[in-house]
Amino acid sequence: MDIRVLRSSDIPHVQTANITNLPENYFCKYYLYHALSWPQLSYVAVDVSRPPKTPYDPPRIVGYVLAKMEEEPADGVPHGHITSLSVMRTHRRLGLAEKLMRQSQRAMVETFGARYVSLHVRVSNVAALRLYRDTLGFEVEKVESKYYADGEDAYSMKMDLAFLREKAPESDDDGEAQDEGDEVGSAGKQGDGESEKKKEKMMKVKVGRSLGVGDLVEKNESTTKAS
Ligand SMILES: CC(C)(COP(=O)(O)OP(=O)(O)OC[C@H]1O[C@@H](n2cnc3c(N)ncnc32)[C@H](O)[C@@H]1OP(=O)(O)O)[C@@H](O)C(=O)NCCC(=O)NCCS
Repeated sequence: MDIRVLRSSDIPHVQTANITNLPENYFCKYYLYHALSWPQLSYVAVDVSRPPKTPYDPPRIVGYVLAKMEEEPADGVPHGHITSLSVMRTHRRLGLAEKLMRQSQRAMVETFGARYVSLHVRVSNVAALRLYRDTLGFEVEKVESKYYADGEDAYSMKMDLAFLREKAPESDDDGEAQDEGDEVGSAGKQGDGESEKKKEKMMKVKVGRSLGVGDLVEKNESTTKAS
């Protein structure tokens, strides 16, 4: 089994897994929005036990986690959010969901300086509740009445990621990890002045809502709430 970052080409297969496993479904562009805005945070589990026969065979995606950073956190604290998680029935109880969640959480801290991660889960979803609360260490923050389209309540859950921050590389003021390594090869041989000039030219770019993508896709999300 291979756990790797979600690629844009995986999206149709992830969408199939989502429709098979959950009633909360999303437009293709909502997956793409996640993959383009926070490419480090979503992962897939691929069954590689039977290698593809031709280069055109799709990867056998048997699980995924779709995750993002909260763009305008109400509490002002940078944090991640799990939009959707599922594993195909044939591949459950193998630890895949736990691994997918842990990979995503680590990336939230290392890449975006997340302090905690949040999610919603149906109050009747015993399997997911056990995974989140007992295996991973999430806590129930509150019950959101009639959160789901069919009227079921949701637990709003949170998990503190401080334990991962201690292990993560040093962060700058925005909480994002900095690359402080020396340049190597021909770049490394350049004089100090020249490499300083190069550093000055580097600038930070914003992702997500600031690109105008958020407004487009979030309107569609109003009919299908996150899991
Ligand atoms: C919930 C779900 C993602 C778990 O995936 P999984 O890969 O089987 O989970 P894991 O193997 O990583 O399980 C880790 C732990 O979670 C708990 N758990 C998982 N499935 C469980 C179940 N059916 N009953 C009780 N506990 C369960 C166990 O504590 C398990 O550890 P253990 O196997 O050592 O006892 C999967 O059942 C699923 O896709 N369900 C449908 C979609 C869904 O509900 N998604 C969550 C929406 S919020």
